[in-house]
Amino acid sequence: MPSHRIVLTVAADQPGPGISRHLFGQFAEHLGSCVYDGLWVGPDSPIPNVRGFRQEAVAALRELRMPNLRWPGGCFADAYHWRNGIGPRDQRPRQRNDTWGQIETNAFGTHEFLDLCAQTGCEPVICGNLGSGTVQEMRDWVEYLNAPTGTVLADERAANGHPAPYGVRYWGVGNESWGCGGLMRAEYYADEFRRYGTYLGSYEKSALFRIATGPGLDDFHWTEVLMRECAAPRFNPGIMDGLSLHYYMNGGCPPARTQQHLLATSFGPEQWRTVMAHGWYMDELIARHSAIMDRHDPARRVKLIVDEWGAWYAPDPAPRPSAYFQQQTIRDALLSALTFDAFIRHAERVHMANAAQVANVLHASILTFGAATVRTPTWHAFHLYVPHQDARRLPVANSAALLSHDGLPYPRVSATASLAPDQSVTVTLAHTDPAEPVRIELQLAGRPAGARPVGRLLTAPELTDCNTPAAPDRVAARPWDDFRFESGRLTATLPPACLAAVTFR
Ligand code: AHR
Repeated sequence: MPSHRIVLTVAADQPGPGISRHLFGQFAEHLGSCVYDGLWVGPDSPIPNVRGFRQEAVAALRELRMPNLRWPGGCFADAYHWRNGIGPRDQRPRQRNDTWGQIETNAFGTHEFLDLCAQTGCEPVICGNLGSGTVQEMRDWVEYLNAPTGTVLADERAANGHPAPYGVRYWGVGNESWGCGGLMRAEYYADEFRRYGTYLGSYEKSALFRIATGPGLDDFHWTEVLMRECAAPRFNPGIMDGLSLHYYMNGGCPPARTQQHLLATSFGPEQWRTVMAHGWYMDELIARHSAIMDRHDPARRVKLIVDEWGAWYAPDPAPRPSAYFQQQTIRDALLSALTFDAFIRHAERVHMANAAQVANVLHASILTFGAATVRTPTWHAFHLYVPHQDARRLPVANSAALLSHDGLPYPRVSATASLAPDQSVTVTLAHTDPAEPVRIELQLAGRPAGARPVGRLLTAPELTDCNTPAAPDRVAARPWDDFRFESGRLTATLPPACLAAVTFR
């Protein structure tokens, strides 16, 4: 019998705020092999593709119901000039990608990005260039994308193959403007945001949702200034719709603050706990930035957009196939689950989030090896959370005591429950103990008897296992029915280090 027993009570008749599907978004930057070779192989590639996009990658993202994709960066966004990526592909300039030091062919540009969004069925999120661009350049891009034909820019779009306006809504105004996006002070950026925001047009059916560069990690001063200066300026109170937040788990958050040399697939119990604790720090971070936002915007009109998050490991001794490529293990699946749970706990304020990055870079859902496409444990975590998309959060009473590491708390079992529009209830359980099983008793309260649970379980034979072309499903979710369910109470033993999802219909 496991030495730990946890009682969870879900109030199924008390639906709370909506859980935006956009919390489960992804991010693709012109970095390493995320875009080129990862998502985009080109129409002439022997790798099966549709108009240049790797078919298996598109299928995997469709299965995730990926709600949105952010592009073209990241730091690259503030060096990107959109006109280089339109028109006949063979005439586009070949350049140096100054941000990441690789060659940029511009084969993947605006139309390709929007085709990828159409193929995967997601909404585009474009991050405009504030760092090295101009107001004119950014507003022209919006017109090119969204204006009906009849203007020079919209007619150029039509001549390039897309007469109908694209209707892009989500728009970032620069990226990390405190760092790679221009090393600006919050006060200076706030004025820049107001200036750029003023000239970015909204078109019929695509009112622009303007996202300001937000803080990195715990720069609360940045949040304070942006909320004070941009949440409601006198002449355009609605100019800022979203404020971004970037947080990468690298073992370097407060109070320790020194980035630790964490490796992706080589770790012991100490590094396991570091990832859990520093991952769960997302919850505190959102709470503290939200408290500042609440003071300036009690109605919560301005949304928090966590448009970069994920684990960022130090390079393994083995050479990487491409820059920032890292493998994923069950540890990353659990980090993903803790992060989703933090977003959902703050669903009143957090509207969108983007894992960095979707393929072959950092916290990737997809890894490609030549012609092979592999779904990572993180892909499986995203997949288990699909039922929470656009559902309503349900209260969960959790008897589990918090664990602690590096002075940071984290849950032994993190539980999230939601009520879907079809009235099904889904509970996800992230069990963070890597060594011991745990006994759970899950009571579904306020629900007529007769519900039937269907479960899936993600676990790994070994904690450091990962998926490869030779063993693509080594760490994969499988059907799970090793539980008892009587009178609305589910009892089970969860194995160490696992993620379970149970849907009651
Ligand atoms: O995701 C990699 C980089 O991390 C992004 O380009 C930048 O915004 C962040 O610092």
